[in-house]
Amino acid sequence: MLSKKINTLLNKQIELEAKSSNAYLSMASWAEVQGWNGVSVFLYKHSDEERMHMLKLFHFVNERGGQAVVPEIKGLKSSYSSITELFEEVLEHEVNVTNEINALVDACLAEKDYTTHNFLQWYVAEQIEEERLIRNILDKLKLIGEEKSGLYMFDRDMSQMSNQAHG
Ligand code: FEO
Repeated sequence: MLSKKINTLLNKQIELEAKSSNAYLSMASWAEVQGWNGVSVFLYKHSDEERMHMLKLFHFVNERGGQAVVPEIKGLKSSYSSITELFEEVLEHEVNVTNEINALVDACLAEKDYTTHNFLQWYVAEQIEEERLIRNILDKLKLIGEEKSGLYMFDRDMSQMSNQAHG
């Protein structure tokens, strides 16, 4: 049975995963309209993946005697000055998610909730992968700079990378 405190914290994490899903959906839309087709494929898939992260938490909370709450998401950004700025925001967002997961893990230990602690290990591992993936993308963009043919190939490779990263 989940304590009230852990239930509340898990609902906060549900909200954060839902925010991630919507933020990446909004980014996908901008990228698609701007002609970054490969990047948009990547972001649409990433958005789906965040929804899966949210649902995994949702079912866990309800199965453990708590109640998952559907979050209301507001204030999404809908335009970016560059593709680099977009991925810098993705990284910033993911680092924040990692910090929140770590805080949640700490809270579980303090509450002696070892079941939730164990469940969250999947998220701990997932965050390492997500941060690594986005840092790789930013490294590539730094190498390419403003070079048009490089950016063209980057976009083409992103739909490929999307299959590797998102299965
Ligand atoms: Fe589910 Fe990208 O954090």
